Amino acid sequence: MVSHRKILNKHREHFEKINEELTEGLSSRIALIEDIGNHSLLGHGKRLRPLFFVLSCELCNYRGNDLHKLSTIFEYIHTASLLHDDVLDNADMRRKKPSANNVWGNHAAVLEGDFLYSKSFSLAVGSENLQFLRRLTETTTKMAEGQVLELIHTHNWSISKGEYLEIITAKTAVLISAACACGAIISGAGEEATQSLERFGLKVGIAFQLMDDLLDYSASQETLGKPVGKDLKEGKITLPLIYTLPTLEGAKRRSLEELFKSSRATDEDYRDLIALVKGNGAIERILREARSYTEEAAKCLSPFPESNVKEDLLELNRYVVEREY
Ligand code: FPP
Ligand code: MG
Repeated sequence: MVSHRKILNKHREHFEKINEELTEGLSSRIALIEDIGNHSLLGHGKRLRPLFFVLSCELCNYRGNDLHKLSTIFEYIHTASLLHDDVLDNADMRRKKPSANNVWGNHAAVLEGDFLYSKSFSLAVGSENLQFLRRLTETTTKMAEGQVLELIHTHNWSISKGEYLEIITAKTAVLISAACACGAIISGAGEEATQSLERFGLKVGIAFQLMDDLLDYSASQETLGKPVGKDLKEGKITLPLIYTLPTLEGAKRRSLEELFKSSRATDEDYRDLIALVKGNGAIERILREARSYTEEAAKCLSPFPESNVKEDLLELNRYVVEREY
C-alpha cells in the first residue's frame, strides 16, 4: 500500500523546494493576499500536481534549473480553482481547515483565486515556451467548461455515466494531464513523449476524481478533512449514486429524488442514502474501475525505458487509487 507519508519521505527534497517556491510566489504588497494564500496553499495540500510535473520533467531529462518554480504553476491553478469551487459549493472546509470563503467571505476568496490564477500565468510566461503556454490556456479553458457542465447538471438525477465522465475529465483530469504533458514539453522531449505523458495524466486524473467521489460516500470526515455526503448536499449526482439508482424500485427512486431535491432531507436521510449506496456494491464497482484506469495509465508509460523516475511516477499513479483522503 502506498501512503502519502511514503511519497512525502521519498520526495522530501522536491516537496521542500516546491513549498519554498510556493511561499516566495505568494509575496504581495497586500497583506490580505498573503494571508489567504498562506491559509489556502500551505499546510495540508498533497502537492500531487507539482510532483507529477517534476517527475515528468525528470523522465524527459529536463536540463533547466527552474523545475520547482515552474511546478508551482500547477498548484497555483489547482488552488485557484478550489478557491472558486468552494464559493460555488458554499463549502465550509478545505484541506482539514475552514475554507477561505468561510474565513474571509466569498468576495475575498474569488479575488484570491484570481491572484493565484494570474500568478500561475506570469510564471508560465517566464518559460518563454509558447507550446507550454498554449497547453496551459487550453487546460484552464476546459476546466471552466467542466465546471459549467457540472453546474448545468446540478440536481440532475438522470445524468448519465457518460455525462459524469465528461465533467470529471474536464474539471480534474485535464490539469493532471497537463502537468505531465508540460513536463515533456518544457524538456523538449518531442510529440511521442508528450502524448504518452498526456494520456498517462488523463487516466490518472480520471482515477483521481473517481476516488474523490467514492470517498465522499465511503470515507469518514476525520480522514477526509471535509464532510462526507457533501456532493449530494451540493446537488452533485456522482458515480456512486448513478450506479445505485437503477437498482432501486421506481417509486423508491422517485421519492428519494423528491426528498433530496427539497430542503427537507435530514442528516438521517443522508446517512440512510449513504448506507444504501454502500450496500449496493457501487463502491466496490467504482474502486475496480478506478484501478483499471490506473492500469491503463501505467501502460501509457511503456514507451519510456525502465528507470527509477518511471517507477516513481508509477508509484504515484498507484497512490491515487490507494489514498484515503
Ligand atoms: C473540485 O471538485 C473542483 C475542481 C476540480 C475544479 C474547479 C474548477 C473551476 C472552479 C473552474 C476553473 C477555474 C480556474 C481558476 C482555472 P469537487 O467540488 O468535486 O471537489 P471537492 O469535494 O474537493 O470540493
Ligand atoms: Mg467542491
